[in-house]
Amino acid sequence: MKLGKYIKQPQGYKAFIPDPFPPKRGFDLSSRLIQKASMATLKLGKLDGITQLLPDKDFFLFMYIRKDATSSSQIEGTQATMIDAIEAESKTTDQLPDDVNDILHYIDALNYGIKRLEKIPLSLRLIKEIHRELMTGGRTTQFADPGYFRKSQNWISGSSPTNARFVPPPPSAMLDSLSNLEKFLHQKDKLLPVIKAGLIHAQFETIHPFLDSNGRTGRMLITIYLHMSGLLELPVLFLSWYFKNNQKFYYESLRKYANGQIDNWLDFFLDGITTTADEAVETVKRITLLRERDMRKIQSLGKQSATSSIKVLRELFKMPIVNVNTIRQWTGYSTRQGAQKVIDRFIKLEILELKDKNKTYGRSFIYKEYLDIFK
Ligand SMILES: Nc1ncnc2c1ncn2[C@@H]1O[C@H](COP(=O)(O)OP(=O)(O)OP(=O)(O)O)[C@@H](O)[C@H]1O
Ligand SMILES: [Mg+2]
Repeated sequence: MKLGKYIKQPQGYKAFIPDPFPPKRGFDLSSRLIQKASMATLKLGKLDGITQLLPDKDFFLFMYIRKDATSSSQIEGTQATMIDAIEAESKTTDQLPDDVNDILHYIDALNYGIKRLEKIPLSLRLIKEIHRELMTGGRTTQFADPGYFRKSQNWISGSSPTNARFVPPPPSAMLDSLSNLEKFLHQKDKLLPVIKAGLIHAQFETIHPFLDSNGRTGRMLITIYLHMSGLLELPVLFLSWYFKNNQKFYYESLRKYANGQIDNWLDFFLDGITTTADEAVETVKRITLLRERDMRKIQSLGKQSATSSIKVLRELFKMPIVNVNTIRQWTGYSTRQGAQKVIDRFIKLEILELKDKNKTYGRSFIYKEYLDIFK
């Protein structure tokens, strides 16, 4: 089923011009696919239920946003890891790869988008604002025109539109397609939200409205849309890790989507929702067990030490890399010795461990078992 045409431009190359979207005749999806979508919806329901039961569920969200930001940036070529990002946030070291900023910007942009959704609807305006947050001050900002849709032709891989793998619509057709997409975001129809989320991402990538970071912005759109549609109370479904692990297939399926192979794309996308939701449910269970175990360890301490230690343990689920200063802030201890005592206690209980065994100065400590859950 065609979604557009390749049309020769005055400059000689062919660009993809999307048809009006969504197609008037609908999408004609197979019953197998609809069934898959229902299953994916069920899995999301399960994830939604179980995250609601988590104590400190915002902390879980925090970690997932970091994980997604890392995978999504790594698709683009960022080398920095989630641990680098957490270390940067925790300010426990100044030896960090430069490109850790890509991840930090991504975290900010995604948080911004989720928060902003309380004030304005998911719209082209919001998408531009997210892009602005993501790209302003970033490594590649000079190529990105943060916060604005492109005013020139772009293309996907290759040195020019003539030899590119894919040439998205030129600016005028791009604007028409974007306004179609914006309407589609809010249009009431019979499509299941999980299917709509997939269509929105693929259509967005096909339009490729920014000079750079279309992939990253488009991936945030999935999470935000699923949250907005009411399927997830908390925006806890992040697909970037799945896309990163299946990058070739991801790109290939997007290419085929423009050529009308919608089922192929949605099939891949829905598998992503199902496996990612399953994994996230598993993650919640493992966090719960770890938390119960470590709370018990702390309660076995005398009453006096337990009070401040419980506070520290709770905070560790949000920020699992710390140094003496972090602990001082959390506990209000005025001396380094007091804070160091807490750390020593956590090491003895095998909750924290020294992050870098060769370091004597500027040491930091890591809640490794917790971080490993997000690997
Ligand atoms: N053939 C294709 N058709 C449409 N979209 C594609 C195709 N191949 C890849 N894409 C999308 O384009 C994105 C890359 O575009 P761009 O460089 O603007 O985004 P980015 O966020 O900077 O990079 P990345 O997505 O690699 O992190 C890919 O991540 C993917 O989502
Ligand atoms: Mg890029």
